[in-house]
Amino acid sequence: MTTFWGPDFDSLRATDPEVADGLLAELERQRSGLQLIASENFASPAVLAAQGSVLTNKYAEGYPGKRYYGGCEEVIDPLEQLAIDRAKQVFGADHANVQPHSGASANIAAYFATVKPGEKVLAMSLPHGGHLTHGMAINFSGKWFDVASYGVREDTEVIDMDQVRSLALEHRPKLIIAGWSAYSRQLDFEAFRSIADEVDAVLMCDAAHFIGLVAGGVHTSPVPYCDIVTFTTHKTLRGPRGAIILANERWAKAIDKAVFPGTQGGPLEHVIAAKAVALKEAMEPSFKEYAQRILDDVRALADGLGERGYRVIAGGTDTHLFLADVTTKGLTGAEAEARCDAAGIVLNKNAIPFDTNPPAVASGIRAGTSGVATQGMGPAELSEVAGLIDRALTGDDAERRAVRAEVTDLVARFPAYPEGGAGSPDQAG
Ligand SMILES: Cc1ncc(COP(=O)(O)O)c(C=O)c1O
Repeated sequence: MTTFWGPDFDSLRATDPEVADGLLAELERQRSGLQLIASENFASPAVLAAQGSVLTNKYAEGYPGKRYYGGCEEVIDPLEQLAIDRAKQVFGADHANVQPHSGASANIAAYFATVKPGEKVLAMSLPHGGHLTHGMAINFSGKWFDVASYGVREDTEVIDMDQVRSLALEHRPKLIIAGWSAYSRQLDFEAFRSIADEVDAVLMCDAAHFIGLVAGGVHTSPVPYCDIVTFTTHKTLRGPRGAIILANERWAKAIDKAVFPGTQGGPLEHVIAAKAVALKEAMEPSFKEYAQRILDDVRALADGLGERGYRVIAGGTDTHLFLADVTTKGLTGAEAEARCDAAGIVLNKNAIPFDTNPPAVASGIRAGTSGVATQGMGPAELSEVAGLIDRALTGDDAERRAVRAEVTDLVARFPAYPEGGAGSPDQAG
């Protein structure tokens, strides 16, 4: 039997000690802090092993059975097909393209398949929680397409579907995008579908953030409502960095052509194998428990901050993340991020709807629980974390040092990548 030939940490250390040291330092950073960045997670050793494999060596432009390179039939084609089949199975989709290198690449391909430069698109505004690829002026989406933006209501901080409809009737977009990077409520996919039908638009969902919750059965699936669903594989889905596009029959061919040769070259088959592994993990019953834990955790954290006088945007959360207004404590988002960082708590500043501070300063923080839920922390720990965040934000430097010590104790009880665990560089000595 062939033995695995994969990541060899000793070899890395011998060849390039600077990079090896960087990897170890990052492992230590991930282990020793409290990771609350909503777009991050801890990929499993199995995902890491597939991604760090000899599959990286193989060129495979094209699709299973239709490649522009030899040597794909025996191994690469079945592996990519496995990833495709699993993606279709997990999400009940007609079609899956597993080749997009990233969420942004997936969205570029979705635009490429559905709209021509200069055509109208309707998507969520960046300051209200949309993504850069949803029409930001200096992103390709804003430069090449005529994007109208919908947002949230000022009173509820929830997406205003009446506004979405009236903007759709006014602009008659070819493409409507439902999806977000910083929004805590579930989307009304049924209403989006009926608006898209009314103006004869293609409906796409960018489910980058919440797709793992869909896989785990704790969030409504956009698949039955949307023509196209793009998502990243490395956030709540807990796979390798990358993305997948799901499409209905009507859009299947156009999506495949848009990914290759439209906007990408050779697929990253090592990453595709790792996506297949993540999808298998997402089919395990334990993933349902994981998804539920994410929600239990995020509610405990959001409630805990709410009780301490922070304003939770949109009144709470249905997803893995929430935004909190920190100006109620006389802080900006940037100050809050820096104070948390000093206490070993890693999260990000974030604009809140109708923010009066510029984006680099911001009035809020965004926090998510997909990583801590992977570590096994439950609502009791996240209630404790709310207290730690509050102390880090309102206390002095000595208090932040005290919080850091408590963070160290907490994460030691729920280690990410335990010492000497499977796939651990510790094993490499
Ligand atoms: C909604 C949404 N779409 C797309 C992306 C882009 O993903 P990537 O960073 O992999 O390009 C993100 C990333 O945060 C996102 O939140």
